[in-house]
Amino acid sequence: MNAAIGDLPLERSIVLVGLMGSGKSVIGRRLAARIGMKFVDADSEIEEAAGLAINDIFEVHGEQAFRDGERRVIARLLTEPAHVLATGGGAFMNPQTRKCVKELAISIWLRADFDVLLRRVSRRDNRPLLKVENKEEVLRGLIEERYPTYGEADIIVQSQDGPHEETVSEVIAALKQFLENESADGDAAPPRQATP
Ligand code: S3P
Repeated sequence: MNAAIGDLPLERSIVLVGLMGSGKSVIGRRLAARIGMKFVDADSEIEEAAGLAINDIFEVHGEQAFRDGERRVIARLLTEPAHVLATGGGAFMNPQTRKCVKELAISIWLRADFDVLLRRVSRRDNRPLLKVENKEEVLRGLIEERYPTYGEADIIVQSQDGPHEETVSEVIAALKQFLENESADGDAAPPRQATP
């Protein structure tokens, strides 16, 4: 697939980062369809590689094993042809993953307000970090801990509480602006190679 935004070719993967409930998978899937790229969900790839659901990876092998698998799987995915990649909320917190994303891809932080996140994560019970009495407290702690790091993403878009297509349109507009700035700066990056 030759993905492009207007006449600006997209040669790098688009990596969505952000907290659980920020809409990375749902927005990522729609974004991929609109810009003509394949969509990949890192959590699903980790589950496939492990042959276990995320809840079970945490329960059987522990969080550290999950994080190691997450880092390896994302490093592998970023060497594959450009695609839209939705990552789990903890992925961009790993310095190696962050470095790899910065070198090889364009990162987008889908930033959502606390109330929106809480409402969305309360609908499902598939997140080991939120299998707790007080989801609000854990979520607030993660916002405090992670938002400064998510802020290192190339692009920041507010994840709207309205129709998904509106957020997707904002992501596309932000991407277009990013690519235009890059080409105006004269450093439009060809597909880059990871440093060892
Ligand atoms: C996690 C987020 C989850 C999943 C795992 C850990 C995190 O992904 O990777 O439960 O540390 O924030 P989503 O952000 O897609 O829910």
